[in-house]
Amino acid sequence: MNENLHTLRCFGCGARIAGREASPDFRCAQCGDLFEVEYAGWGQRQGHNRPNPGALKWLWRERRCSSEALDQSGVWRFRELLPILDNFGNAISLHEGNTPLYKLKRAAKALGIDQLFAKHQGMNPTGSFKDTGMTAALSVARERGFEWVACASTGNTSAAMAAYAARAGLRSLVLIPEGKIAWGKLSQAMDYGAVTCQLKSDFDGCVRVLTQIVKESPIYLLNSVNPYRLEGQKTPAFEIAEAFDWTVPDHLIVPGGNLANSSALGKGFKELHELGLVARMPRISVIQAKGANPLSRSFAENNGERMEPVEAHTRATAIRIGNPASWRKAARTIKDTGGWCLDVSEAEIAVAKAELGTEGLGCEPASAVTLAGLKKLRAEGKVVANETVVLLLTGHTLKDADYTINFHRGTLLADDEIAGHRPDIAILQRNAVVVDATPSAVLATLDGFSG
Ligand code: F0G
Repeated sequence: MNENLHTLRCFGCGARIAGREASPDFRCAQCGDLFEVEYAGWGQRQGHNRPNPGALKWLWRERRCSSEALDQSGVWRFRELLPILDNFGNAISLHEGNTPLYKLKRAAKALGIDQLFAKHQGMNPTGSFKDTGMTAALSVARERGFEWVACASTGNTSAAMAAYAARAGLRSLVLIPEGKIAWGKLSQAMDYGAVTCQLKSDFDGCVRVLTQIVKESPIYLLNSVNPYRLEGQKTPAFEIAEAFDWTVPDHLIVPGGNLANSSALGKGFKELHELGLVARMPRISVIQAKGANPLSRSFAENNGERMEPVEAHTRATAIRIGNPASWRKAARTIKDTGGWCLDVSEAEIAVAKAELGTEGLGCEPASAVTLAGLKKLRAEGKVVANETVVLLLTGHTLKDADYTINFHRGTLLADDEIAGHRPDIAILQRNAVVVDATPSAVLATLDGFSG
């Protein structure tokens, strides 16, 4: 069985190479830019490799009832659109994908928007959207005979990589910034047996060290510069389109860290469009934390043409990244789809996260930037009332329980950060109280909440 139809195309100079010719750091030998996976003939109406749209829609839906392991994956269910393996039997899956799309009624009402949804990628096997990319790239690593895989991470990539490597019987090496990732994520890497090195550096420093390591040792790099990661991460676009019966929402809002995921989703919608499965693309907007906002600055200063790295600081540790590798890809996605790139403050993130909580949807702080960003876009008139908007929630709330507890205890934010948000925060805070073990003492705590 040979399903492998792809080449790698340099995003910068357009050079094409075979998948196995990529250098260990996935940088183009001509210009140093990153690669994208390309499938010959998909862009041309009469291309002979072009899949049939109607047949695909039927097949993908049928697979949801199948008992085959590959069909039960929300990534490999769409395998006709990610022919990256020589043999799909080599795929390593944890039943990722097929994540829920929730309607957000309260937030929609508060914002005066008709249709607001959250696509919750935190509902993946290791609790983040990284699983969809990891099943794809780690399967390639295994097919190509690597024994070791590695990543630098703010925590979620390492958790996903460690889990998938364990399933595949591969060894994994994790580099994380010491003291700057959420404990839940660190515990996962340990649990799944990764060799975990906490470097006295930030995420960008971990990337620099790992780039040297993979050039010197036969270790397969699984950061999002690896273009196969994005092939898996594009599949939520297919799920969203399918959920809307192959129409697309008007606007998709995505958090931005290393800036790969926004372009992966853009690629997913673009391929659906090119292949005739959907009639148009949604706008894709990227939201960063104010303290880690190199792309949003770049858009404000030069319309996303040049980017200056920043020293990153945010409590949304997943996106604490100052020198994002895939910024050019993200900038093109934003521009091609007519989206925006904004940043939001620490208090705006915390409030948005607690508001999502009141709808029964927990998420990581990094995911909550999407709602905080939507509020700004709505206030600026960039989102109008009759639009259908989807927020991409990227991580599970239990990844970073400390953040949530600190918010509700009132110890998360400094006084100067809270200014202007005090009333919102007061309404949302639900600190746990210690009371006597009697019914009357417990019932007395309800007094403040009646009416
Ligand atoms: N949300 C969460 C929960 C993340 O973990 C990340 C990135 C992002 C958003 C941003 O996605 O990098 O594609 O723009 N986490 C990486 C990691 C960097 O190492 O886990 P991006």
